[in-house]
Amino acid sequence: VTDKGIYSDIVFSPGLQVKVTGGHQDKTLTCITTCTLTGNPTYIWYKNGQHLDESTSPQYNNSVSSNYEDSYSCAVKGQEDFLSPAVCVQDQSCSRVTYTKRRICVLKGSTVNISCTYVGYYSTTSTFWFRSDKSTPEDLTRDPGYADRVQYPDKEIRRYKGPSILRITDLREEDSVEYRFTFKTDNFEWGHRFPGTTLSVTVLQVKVTPAAEGQKTLTCSTTCTLTDNPNPTYIWYKNGQRLDEPTSRQYSVNSYYSDSYSCAVKGHEDHHSPAVCVQGQYCSRVTYTKRRICVLKGSTVDISCTYVGYYYTTSTFWFRSDKSTPEDLTRDPGYAGRVKYPDKDRWINKGPPILRITDLREEDSAEYRFTFKTHNIEWGHSFPGTTLSVTGLQVKVTPAAEGQKTLTCSTTCTLTDNPNPTYIWYKNGKRLDEPTSQQYSSNTLVVLGHSVDSYSCTVEHHEDLHSPAVCEYELNYCST
Ligand SMILES: *[C@@H]1O[C@H](CO)[C@@H](O)[C@H](O)[C@H]1NC(C)=O
Ligand SMILES: *[C@@H]1O[C@H](CO)[C@@H](O)[C@H](O)[C@H]1NC(C)=O
Repeated sequence: VTDKGIYSDIVFSPGLQVKVTGGHQDKTLTCITTCTLTGNPTYIWYKNGQHLDESTSPQYNNSVSSNYEDSYSCAVKGQEDFLSPAVCVQDQSCSRVTYTKRRICVLKGSTVNISCTYVGYYSTTSTFWFRSDKSTPEDLTRDPGYADRVQYPDKEIRRYKGPSILRITDLREEDSVEYRFTFKTDNFEWGHRFPGTTLSVTVLQVKVTPAAEGQKTLTCSTTCTLTDNPNPTYIWYKNGQRLDEPTSRQYSVNSYYSDSYSCAVKGHEDHHSPAVCVQGQYCSRVTYTKRRICVLKGSTVDISCTYVGYYYTTSTFWFRSDKSTPEDLTRDPGYAGRVKYPDKDRWINKGPPILRITDLREEDSAEYRFTFKTHNIEWGHSFPGTTLSVTGLQVKVTPAAEGQKTLTCSTTCTLTDNPNPTYIWYKNGKRLDEPTSQQYSSNTLVVLGHSVDSYSCTVEHHEDLHSPAVCEYELNYCST
């Protein structure tokens, strides 16, 4: 427990290790601890990542194998987090997995790298990460719940050993589970029961507690201590305006009915807490429906929020956060004829204010914020809004098997309204046939590398927004 009364992830660790004794044929493994465990602990044994046995004795001598590739580790039941490192019983080249961290706490919306190192006795034929709560392990890159949010940045097939990284972006609360790594060689598979890394995805929240007369104490809290930043610098917003001070976790304020507060962690301003009232429920505040949106160039987007003004509003508008002074988008010449506030007459009743931008261009990629004025407050301009990314479609050409090329249809971000789109291909401007092969379920198409045809792609429901056409042979000869 820290002196500030802040919860802490530092817990007593029994520091387990496996000691190997005995002759070549009759080995005994002992699970040793750096201190005496109270109660009657149950020991769990793992062999090659599989759950082997449980016993109340710290010794294990039930047919310990003497295969070179086998590794063993032990844990105490109920404290599987404190797993011993896997040890080899014969020499030092046995198969094993070691996770870099056993627990990770990160903010919702951010990115995490979960890593381990592995050693395979033979070169691997398959390696992947999975969620331990699935009944059968499933490669995360094929899980629709993680569509385009999961990467294995250093994946190389058929290595003996190496680091393996699982990167998950745009984290959601439902990603809070234990992740495990597994690998296969020709006649070996690392077990699925070996404890991995537990991820906790947390959000920031402002907690309001009464202090002295007319005062409240605000605390910026998370449900776990952020792994990469256990003592962060905090940022506070009052009525949408970033305050210069304070930068600590707690803040004492006067409690006015119209005031709202929100907090963020420096470096993660995008993932701020919702704005909360210090007194009652009717304070001024803005809540964006989505914090990030990715859409196709040429299409239309609606960006929305909800807001509450403590008094009637006298002015309301949307602006780009990269302008030095906030300027109503409907007056910006760069958006002439492309920006609308549909239903603006209803905004007076708290909205929801919608910003509609049509015929999107790449230079519309920016952060958009909403602001309003009442006769005594103006919602601040520094409160983070919705970040819009406008992407074009592109065909990339890579060599495939002998005489063939692979065409890949890609966007620079995952489309918000359609994360797993159906791709449509055009050959010489003519739509290719309906799904007879897998070409429609993926974003790739394999073609002969020596024809003079041109290809372009799009995604379903946006047939009018093609990628530029490419020729897989020679640019000058193809028909576009
Ligand atoms: C394992 O070996 C130890 C030491 O040789 C012995 O005391 C113990 O009874 C054995 N346990 C089992 C389950 O055979
Ligand atoms: C993840 O790793 C990459 C390099 O492999 C690094 O650039 C990135 O900053 C890391 N992200 C986080 C959130 O640690």
